[in-house]
Amino acid sequence: MNTPNLTPLVAGLPATVPFVGPEELQRNRGAPFAARLGANENVFGPSPRAIAALQAENARIWQYGDAGSHDLRNALAAELGCGIGNIVVGEGIDGLLGYLVRMLVAPGDAVVTSAGAYPTFNYHVAGYGGRLETVPYRDDAEDLVALIARAAEVGARLIYFANPDNPMGSYLPGVEVAAALQALPEGALLILDEAYLEFAPDDAAVPLPLDDPRLIRMRTFSKAYGMAGARVGYAIGAPGLIAAFDRVRNHFGMNRAAQAGALAALADRDWLARTKAKVAASRDEIGRIAAENGLKALPSATNFVTVDCGGDGNLARRVVAELGDRGVFIRMPFVAPQDRCVRISCGTEADMALLASTLPAALTAARAAAARAG
Ligand SMILES: Cc1ncc(COP(=O)(O)O)c(C=O)c1O
Repeated sequence: MNTPNLTPLVAGLPATVPFVGPEELQRNRGAPFAARLGANENVFGPSPRAIAALQAENARIWQYGDAGSHDLRNALAAELGCGIGNIVVGEGIDGLLGYLVRMLVAPGDAVVTSAGAYPTFNYHVAGYGGRLETVPYRDDAEDLVALIARAAEVGARLIYFANPDNPMGSYLPGVEVAAALQALPEGALLILDEAYLEFAPDDAAVPLPLDDPRLIRMRTFSKAYGMAGARVGYAIGAPGLIAAFDRVRNHFGMNRAAQAGALAALADRDWLARTKAKVAASRDEIGRIAAENGLKALPSATNFVTVDCGGDGNLARRVVAELGDRGVFIRMPFVAPQDRCVRISCGTEADMALLASTLPAALTAARAAAARAG
């Protein structure tokens, strides 16, 4: 048989993906989930104006999208008060992270992130042969000062920091991010993953110019705008760095219906405000359900709530499994001691009602199984 030779780099990669998606989990369990609260999607969905724009553009789906995403970048630039040259649009933050790593990380280069932080970034670093250096969480939050100090120690040129953070839901006020950047080593770049920024208190925004060459901000239409399946994200940064994306990106990678949908979503401020209110109410409800079951919900600046199950990773894994068996899809942090928690995305009232009715039995079963396992 003629088997193509993988490059040594690819041959050496583990055959894993950052996340097993809910569809695959449903296929494995042989039934759909009744509540989809594990992927931090926005169950409240996109603006009706975005849906109409997506549908209208479908008739022209025989055409490639605008490779420059000009109209969307223009609207984002107007919204943000920067130039169009400060913005690149890509296939979600995940896609943009891949391009950025390809642009900046050569095989063997050190890259710094937090142990247990958003894993898709790590996946890209491994894929380009980078060397991951990790720093532990501190008080259930990413420790930016320590991340920057580690970068200086190991000569890393790239640092990943999500603000607010997934999986813990915490955030660092923007003034503290700006202060920490004073110690950034010369030539290093901070990736500020702001996927959840719209849900955070106003002081999460970093009070630095959008073209500050020390950082690149990444934002998305997947979360607050409810368009995860459309795959639209954008990065904001210094024009030279943003222009360099053109050297590596998939120029026709953007779906034209998704481009039109994102443009319409951006214009619908009322829908965004209503979504934020619904997310805030659901966060409170998750906190209430947690408390009702004797569990502690951690403060959240996102559209999910991380709940301390009061045991170790084994117990939390069983809670995830028991809720899954009862039709409620949730996830959990990967690394101890944060893996004592489960992570529950905000949902509809029906989702919350199902969570409230299934959690007590799921907890009892998880505790019993953990006790049996010793
Ligand atoms: C911190 C963080 N960054 C990025 C993403 C993915 O964003 P996108 O859908 O734009 O690729 C997620 C999704 O869960 C996330 O939690």
